[in-house]
Amino acid sequence: MPTKVHVIDHPLVQHKLSLMRRRETPTSEFRALLEEISMLLAYEATRDLAITKQRIETPLEAVDAPVLDGKKVVIVSILRAGNGILDGMLKILPSARVGHIGLYRDHKTLQAIEYFFKVPSDMADRDVIVVDPMLATGNSAVAAIDRLVKTGPRSIKYVCLLAAPEGIAVFQAQHPDVPIYTASIDRCLNESGYILPGLGDAGDRLFGTK
Ligand code: URA
Repeated sequence: MPTKVHVIDHPLVQHKLSLMRRRETPTSEFRALLEEISMLLAYEATRDLAITKQRIETPLEAVDAPVLDGKKVVIVSILRAGNGILDGMLKILPSARVGHIGLYRDHKTLQAIEYFFKVPSDMADRDVIVVDPMLATGNSAVAAIDRLVKTGPRSIKYVCLLAAPEGIAVFQAQHPDVPIYTASIDRCLNESGYILPGLGDAGDRLFGTK
């Protein structure tokens, strides 16, 4: 039984996502919206982070106050569109460590080819959040998780903006224990591997490259 797909159906997320989907939304607005949604996705994806108590002094008295336990989270961005989610997540997790995985999609086979990989050296005690806006065919996501599993992190979660049912199926067949957080499960993929209704090419829309 695969772990849950968490669909973040909060009205603020859904409203902002609809604005992002619109063809006429300009790059600057698209970028800002992705950053805002990413903060909200991070909020949900970090709900179960371990907490410990630390003795602190307020101006009035001492108190055992809750603080995050253990080593810092690692956010791993799948280049290049993952950086749009990374920027938002770092706003609420400013001390998180960051990793990058460069994968490009072979447009004929739709398979993911790795060209870059850099993560912190001490992954064994860390919780990883992998970010990429579009879980489409699932090939990049699976390739990224395959690679990260070899570094032996404490846990892995996957956060995206949109997911296609086909991509979720591929992902869960390979990594049933990795939870997925998404703002929407869209209808399907088209013959070129784009999500429908989707929002187009997330990287192009984020960086204004088309
Ligand atoms: N990547 C994108 O940027 N958009 C899609 O619809 C699918 C993959």
